[in-house]
Amino acid sequence: MAITSRLILLFLIHISLFLNSSAQTCSNHTFSTNRVFSSCSDLPYLQAHIHWNYIPSTRRVQIAYRATQTSTGWIAWAINPTGTGMVGSQAIVAFLNSNGSTTVYPTPISSYNPSMQPGALSFKVSNISAEYSDNEMTIFAVVGPLNNGTTIDHVWQTGNSVSNNIPQMHATSGPNVQSMGRLDFLSG
Ligand SMILES: *[C@@H]1O[C@H](CO)[C@@H](O)[C@H](O)[C@H]1NC(C)=O
Ligand SMILES: *[C@@H]1O[C@H](CO)[C@@H](O)[C@H](O)[C@H]1NC(C)=O
Ligand SMILES: *[C@@H]1O[C@H](CO)[C@@H](O)[C@H](O)[C@H]1NC(C)=O
Ligand SMILES: *[C@@H]1O[C@H](CO)[C@@H](O)[C@H](O)[C@H]1NC(C)=O
Repeated sequence: MAITSRLILLFLIHISLFLNSSAQTCSNHTFSTNRVFSSCSDLPYLQAHIHWNYIPSTRRVQIAYRATQTSTGWIAWAINPTGTGMVGSQAIVAFLNSNGSTTVYPTPISSYNPSMQPGALSFKVSNISAEYSDNEMTIFAVVGPLNNGTTIDHVWQTGNSVSNNIPQMHATSGPNVQSMGRLDFLSG
């Protein structure tokens, strides 16, 4: 009897540990505004997540990219339409302005020493906004039409400092140079 209940207890602890760990996944995330995304992926580096809705009729995709960050850092998410990795990527960057408001804008990354100033991307991006809460920054945007298909090479990044409202260089080793991958907005 005692042994059986102990076994049941162990089993329940096991189950609750499992549920706790699965509670970390992106599918459980609720956004502060009433935004809902049907698909998401927990990215393997930088405590980052991408959520999206692909709209077949317009070939556009609504995205939310969120990553753990302090109030003095920055986050960025990019599509690289011409290769993989940083150079050539078409990014959206977000950080807190020195006056405390959220700043977010598109910026093309043409070298390993980019200006990080606002600039036009090689594809259409609209409805850009950002939020900061609970030690997490989030970028919202609508990308497309996806003229080259729904499978994209993406790159994501976080950096620790912003100076004069310009995001400064991120770490150049470990997860910060591994944070890229391929994503199909149609199949997940
Ligand atoms: C998290 O999501 C999974 C399925 O996606 C669900 O089974 C689980 O109950 C959720 N956990 C919480 C805490 O909402
Ligand atoms: C903060 O600074 C930005 C950029 O200079 C400006 O666009 C924004 O209106 C300012 N916000 C506040 C609340 O002052
Ligand atoms: C499609 O490919 C062209 C040419 O490489 C590129 O300029 C454009 O940014 C790409 N569009 C998207 C949405 O990836
Ligand atoms: C972009 O924002 C406009 C204005 O708020 C809204 O009407 C439109 O539905 C948004 N587009 C998408 C694809 O979410």
